[in-house]
Amino acid sequence: MGSLIEGDVTMSEMPVRSELRTRALSYSIGTIVDGVDLRELSPIEIDAIRQLWLERKVLFFPGQHLDADSHLAFAAHFGEISEGHPVIPGIPGNPRIFQIDYSDDREVYASYGDTARTAGLDWHTDVTFVERPPMGSILSAVAIPPSGGDTMFSDQGAAFAALSPRMQDFLEGLTAVHDGQQAFQYALDFIGAGTWEGQEVTSLKQVIHPVVRTHPETGQRSLFVNPGFTKRIVELDPSESEMLLGFLYRHAVRPEFTVRYHWTQGDVGFWDNRATQHAVVGDYGDQARIIQRVTLRGDEPR
Ligand code: SIN
Repeated sequence: MGSLIEGDVTMSEMPVRSELRTRALSYSIGTIVDGVDLRELSPIEIDAIRQLWLERKVLFFPGQHLDADSHLAFAAHFGEISEGHPVIPGIPGNPRIFQIDYSDDREVYASYGDTARTAGLDWHTDVTFVERPPMGSILSAVAIPPSGGDTMFSDQGAAFAALSPRMQDFLEGLTAVHDGQQAFQYALDFIGAGTWEGQEVTSLKQVIHPVVRTHPETGQRSLFVNPGFTKRIVELDPSESEMLLGFLYRHAVRPEFTVRYHWTQGDVGFWDNRATQHAVVGDYGDQARIIQRVTLRGDEPR
C-alpha cells in the first residue's frame, strides 16, 4: 500500500483540506487527532479521518466527551453499527453501547470465571470467534483512573511485513481455528442467548480464518491470529501448531509494532480491528475504569 501520511502532517497538507492536526505516536501505528469536533464533521473531515484511520490503524481524539447518541452518530459515519458483542449485552437501555468495566458487578459479570472477566487485559483482536469479526470499534473514555489503565495496540501489518519472505510464504494459505468458548461460555450459559448480526446466539461454534489476512480496503497483508481466541493451525500437527502460534503471538506484539495510549476522560479512540491486536494494561488496581465501545460490522477475513 502506498503511504497516505508521511510522518506528522496537518490535514491541510493532504489532498483533502481540513483543519485537523495530527501527531503520530509511533512509526507505523497510532495518531492523535486534534482540531475537530466529532459531533460536527464535514464530509471532507469524514473522508480525511477514514483515510488516516486506514493508514495509522488507530486514532485518538482527545477531549471529545461524546454522549451515547453522538458516540453512535460518529461511528455511523464509518460503517454499519453492530451489536457490541455476541454474548455480553450492551448497557441497559442502549444495547449498541458495550461497556468495558472490569469492576462491573452486574450479575452477568459476576457469573464469569476470573480468567474470562479479565480477558481484555491480554492481547486480542475483538470477537474473531465469529465468521465476520468487527471491522473496527470506537471507544469513549467515561471514567479513567488517576493512574494506569492505558490501552496498547499492535500493528499486525507491520508484524507480517517484518517476517522473512520464507516465513511469509509458509504462513500464506494456512488457516486457524478461532473459538470463544473459553472466554465467553460462562456468560452464555448464564444469559442463555446473545445476539449477533441480528441472529440469536445460543452456542459458540468454532470458526476458521486465514492466518494471514488481506485488508479489504488497503490490500495490506497482516497476521490474523491472536492468543485470545485462536486455538490451532488447521494444517499443522498440534505440537507444530503450538510452537508456531507461540512464536507468532510473541512476534505480533514486539514493542516496535505497538503504540500505548494514556487515556483522559472524554477521549475517543477508533481502531481498525482487521489489522490490529489490543490489550488493556491492568495496572490500575481497584480504581474505576469505564470505557464504552461502539462496534462496526465487519466482513469475512480473506
Ligand atoms: C476492548 O478490549 O475492546 C477495549 C479496550 C479498552 O478497554 O481499552
